[in-house]
Amino acid sequence: MALINPSILSADFARLAEEAKAVEGADWLHVDVMDNHFVPNLTLGVPVVESLSKATDTPLDLHLMIEDPDRWAPQYIEAGAGSVTFHVEAAAAPVRLAREIRAKGARASMALKPATPIEPYEDLLPELDMLLIMTVEPGFGGQAFLDIMLPKIRRTRELISRHGLQLALQVDGGVSAATIERCAEAGADVFVAGSAVYGADDPAKAVRDLREKAET
Ligand code: DX5
Ligand code: ZN
Repeated sequence: MALINPSILSADFARLAEEAKAVEGADWLHVDVMDNHFVPNLTLGVPVVESLSKATDTPLDLHLMIEDPDRWAPQYIEAGAGSVTFHVEAAAAPVRLAREIRAKGARASMALKPATPIEPYEDLLPELDMLLIMTVEPGFGGQAFLDIMLPKIRRTRELISRHGLQLALQVDGGVSAATIERCAEAGADVFVAGSAVYGADDPAKAVRDLREKAET
């Protein structure tokens, strides 16, 4: 089954509650937290996540593009996140962090930037509920999908199967009606889409259309 997670980054930040409601029916709402250090952009923090989690019934899929996720992840769970993704490039102790996220009742997920290979982290996979493969350089919505990431998605799916694991494989960046089938074919099953959803006239329909394309 394909999960579609609209990214609130492409929404109107002055109307976050309405924008979250516009995609009810989506599986998770993807929330990009950027600190202007790990990536060259700044978005939102704990208080906004807390308000957003009260404004929608859709569970929140937090993507932390920040330095020191070891310190901040627990606060985002307390603010209402159902899933927390940290970047392995920024985490001081990814195993301890993943265990802490799970112990606090959220799903633990680890992200890889385009230049970060999966192979050194093969042994960490059992500690995770989801792995995120970035299909653009993190930092901004609306960038072009990087086709060169397809082999990494394929290799990661093979590793997951070889270990007999259940973890979800998420792709984020440039996912649209034009690229989602390639991602699904390579083995992704959770799809983040920002501009493809919020740039559409009818965001809820865009979610349904993406899901249908991913499942064919
Ligand atoms: C980029 C963010 C993405 C972004 C995707 O760094 O992690 O979640 O919102 O936006 P699109 O789908 O427009 O590429
Ligand atoms: Zn993201």
